[in-house]
Amino acid sequence: MPKKRVAVLISGRGSNLAALIEAARAPDYPAEIALVISNRPNALGLDRASAAGIATLVIDHTRFGKDRVGFEAALQKELEARAIDLVCLAGFMRLLTDGFVGRWRGRMINIHPALLPSFRGLDTHARALAAGVKIHGATVHFVVPEMDAGEIIAQGAVAVRDDDTEDALAARVIAVEHHIYPMALRLLAEGKLRLGDGRCRIEGSAPAHASLIVPDA
Ligand code: GRF
Repeated sequence: MPKKRVAVLISGRGSNLAALIEAARAPDYPAEIALVISNRPNALGLDRASAAGIATLVIDHTRFGKDRVGFEAALQKELEARAIDLVCLAGFMRLLTDGFVGRWRGRMINIHPALLPSFRGLDTHARALAAGVKIHGATVHFVVPEMDAGEIIAQGAVAVRDDDTEDALAARVIAVEHHIYPMALRLLAEGKLRLGDGRCRIEGSAPAHASLIVPDA
């Protein structure tokens, strides 16, 4: 089967992008990172992509003012021109319209730094600490018009420590992100994900048995 052509949309650092690039180096990985698009000209992730020999583009949203549809039309044009099959949002800080999301339904995924449906939106680590949860983590999900609300593909959990700071917790969660995002993209590119009843089921997956219990007393 030919590899799926993936575009990664970023706005900043691009550490998840780097994890996807690294995973896609494996000869048996079913997807290739064909294009990286940033809405911010100075995103660090652009340098990471160029260093890996991947085509990059900047589509600066500020050029479009409040015209989201115009911004997305420019995005869509590039995705089509490069025959992109799948889109990964990786720290992409723009809300997308229903029209764009609908066009990529089932083919666009996102990573969120919390165990959805808890802590949608921003500042997830600070909010998890404030809520006193004992288990926190990250989620890869399909993108739907409602923010951080699509079917969940994969989640990874970390234990929250009594002495955690936002930064310390973020560092452990991002390590989980770098693990689950390449895994989720692999499953999508292999055609193993089935959507129905608001859930994503994974074809041929062995039942997972691990439990994480906190505190470990
Ligand atoms: C990650 O925490 C991701 O979950 C969130 O934005 C952050 C992006 O980090 N959506 P990076 O740019 O991939 O390093």
